[in-house]
Amino acid sequence: MRGARILSVGSAVPNLSINNHKISEIVETSDEWIVTRTGIKERRILTGVNKSVVDLAALASIRALKKISMKPKDIDLIILATSSPNDLFGSASQLQHQIGANKAAAFDLTAACSGFVLGVVTASQFIQNGSYNNILVVGADVLSKWTNWSDRSTCILFGDGAGAAIIQSCSKRQNGILGFQLNTDGQKSDQLSIAYRNNVLADAKWPTSKGEFEYIHMNGKEVYKFAVSKVPSSILDCLDSLKISVQDVNWMLLHQANERILNAVAEKLGITSDKIIANLRKYGNTSAASIPLALDEALQQSKINKNDIIVMAGFGAGLTWATVVIQWKC
Ligand code: COA
Repeated sequence: MRGARILSVGSAVPNLSINNHKISEIVETSDEWIVTRTGIKERRILTGVNKSVVDLAALASIRALKKISMKPKDIDLIILATSSPNDLFGSASQLQHQIGANKAAAFDLTAACSGFVLGVVTASQFIQNGSYNNILVVGADVLSKWTNWSDRSTCILFGDGAGAAIIQSCSKRQNGILGFQLNTDGQKSDQLSIAYRNNVLADAKWPTSKGEFEYIHMNGKEVYKFAVSKVPSSILDCLDSLKISVQDVNWMLLHQANERILNAVAEKLGITSDKIIANLRKYGNTSAASIPLALDEALQQSKINKNDIIVMAGFGAGLTWATVVIQWKC
């Protein structure tokens, strides 16, 4: 088995920033309520009819490639984690074309806010078994397109963004993707969803239907309880399997859903607040983009050092939750 490590990270967010005061002009809420319950102050929203998740994903990818002077044609595989594609058949091929990675195979991965972690784990399997050398994993979402802007319990939470990581093969000694834990509880899929509503066409010649997707629906209290109870045990199981103690963890990088969730998980694990990577104050919950977006920012701030142990955990719709423990090798 070969090793795999993250070589470079890039990110992109739209220019338009909507702060809590602006949101309080469209729904009955306040900056104080939103900050106290979630920690979010503002979020970025993609505008323009011709702009899509692929544009953000492409910009994040190009930034990641530029940092290591890698050419798009050197990418073997693209995994685009998104729940807000341009095309239900998949958007990874559009990304492949837009960045000129014409030698890469490309596919979408749908796992909501766990998508980036699942993408990293999937990439590491392809690399460790010798199938591919250079894999681009992108987490990108524009959930603003599926937000009901008159529902104050959800429209305060989400923002748009993209984060990209280039994962490369290396020697076993240099391996940086140490282990993972993946979980799904499909029985609770209705707690957080963008459901498809089927309408039977009465005047059709044979039984047929045409439907549409609804807005984001969420049971906030249940999702909160789920995250705070399931994520710590997933992290602990993963660390235990690797014989790494919580004290050896340098950084905890959770899906940026809610500051209270981040703090509660850290407290349960006995991780001090100075080890939490958080930027949701500025971007809100960017779904599959949130972890690589925060990772890119932490790297730009030179927080992360060589050989640091980073616990990354995504959680959300599905319900899914996923942990990957990495060691920074660059
Ligand atoms: N502004 C003001 N009041 C609001 C509000 C808002 N934006 N949204 C809800 N409220 C009101 C409710 O109507 C309710 O009023 P009532 O008591 O008169 O009925 C009250 O605030 C409490 O609502 P509740 O839903 O119980 O709030 P909460 O403390 O659970 O906080 C969330 C709501 C959404 C912030 C919280 O449940 C949460 O963060 N859950 C996790 C969501 C998440 O992270 N999802 C993504 C995971 S990937």
